[in-house]
Amino acid sequence: MTYAVNPAIHRIEAPPIMEAQTWVRPGLRNRTLLNLCQAVPSWPSAEELDDEVARVAKLPGTSLYTDIFGIPELRQAIAAHMSEDYRGSIAAEEVCVTSGCNQAFAASIMAIAKAGDNVILPVPYFFNHTMWLGMLNVEARHVPAIRGSDPWPAVEDAARLIDANTRAIVLCSPNNPTGSIYPPNVIDAFFDLAKSRGIALVIDETYKDFRADPAPPHGIFSKPSWQDAFIHLYSFSKVFSMTGYRAGSIIASTRILGEVEKILDCMAICAPHISQRAALFGLTSLDAWKREKIATMRARLEALRAGFSRPSLKYRMVSSGALFAYVEHPFDGETAKQVAMRLAGEHDVLCLPGSMFGAGQDRYLRIAFANAEAGDMETLVDRLVESQG
Ligand SMILES: Cc1ncc(COP(=O)(O)O)c(C=O)c1O
Repeated sequence: MTYAVNPAIHRIEAPPIMEAQTWVRPGLRNRTLLNLCQAVPSWPSAEELDDEVARVAKLPGTSLYTDIFGIPELRQAIAAHMSEDYRGSIAAEEVCVTSGCNQAFAASIMAIAKAGDNVILPVPYFFNHTMWLGMLNVEARHVPAIRGSDPWPAVEDAARLIDANTRAIVLCSPNNPTGSIYPPNVIDAFFDLAKSRGIALVIDETYKDFRADPAPPHGIFSKPSWQDAFIHLYSFSKVFSMTGYRAGSIIASTRILGEVEKILDCMAICAPHISQRAALFGLTSLDAWKREKIATMRARLEALRAGFSRPSLKYRMVSSGALFAYVEHPFDGETAKQVAMRLAGEHDVLCLPGSMFGAGQDRYLRIAFANAEAGDMETLVDRLVESQG
């Protein structure tokens, strides 16, 4: 006889990317795998950032805890950066540093929703969002995130699902898995809906830096009372190629951050001190590096889009942007997982099936192309054509 596990955790699917990696059959391969299953840029962190980390490692105090909300200089730098980027008004006290955006999501949701509550979550969704909601016994109520040629959810669909137990609408833009960048007026309308119904709009903006348009992603931070209904989540992982450092942020009212503080204190006390220094350096000293990398990623996206115009290709790109493309496969009667496993096992392409991102997604695959060079996109299309038989 042994001890029981928490059924709320046990019923959650195993981490998807780990599972996908088991589909590759190393012994059989005679050509390089195109690994497109995870949104991690192919380049390392900036050399200057590595030097800075080495420098601060030797300073007295770097090995110690920081404030739960993070080092004041970083909170200030995030407030300044976001105020500029969104042409809005954010104070340092409204910023909390986290151990990555996943922790930012976890703590934010835990601060506002209890078991039995619900949140509105467009499908397809980022799987860690539903995994966490499931663990908390918070119901995810789904609305479609792709409607015909519009790859974003409709405000009216969300409005219909809100009831007395709804605590939040959760969006992700630029979206994982679809790459879709929601139009600013759509995001603003979701904010107005949330505010009018007394719930929160939580937006995961991990990929905001990878947009081509320099205009603000939305106008929420310029509204005088954004604090009433908005929670903004961000990640330093992708933009500074520092996924392993674990640094992200929450921007919210000081009222909500007061609740978040208790959660973070129990989870990890603070984000790793040295990672906060790395994030600060990135925000304040790596602008040129960041711009160059974003341009490189943009060229990869354009190369992928160009590749998908090949007439013999029967896969169809439904939407794309930032680090992702969402693609419809041509195989009637095959699930997305069967197609993805076949691509991994026989055609040296590893990508994730749409079914990992929610119900009704069996026709789709997610291509996370950050790991592939622009020159690899033709090879990808060659292999997709090959898979058509
Ligand atoms: C939408 C989204 N949010 C959060 C994360 C996790 O970010 P972090 O490394 O900052 O925890 C990812 C990583 O892929 C993501 O795609």
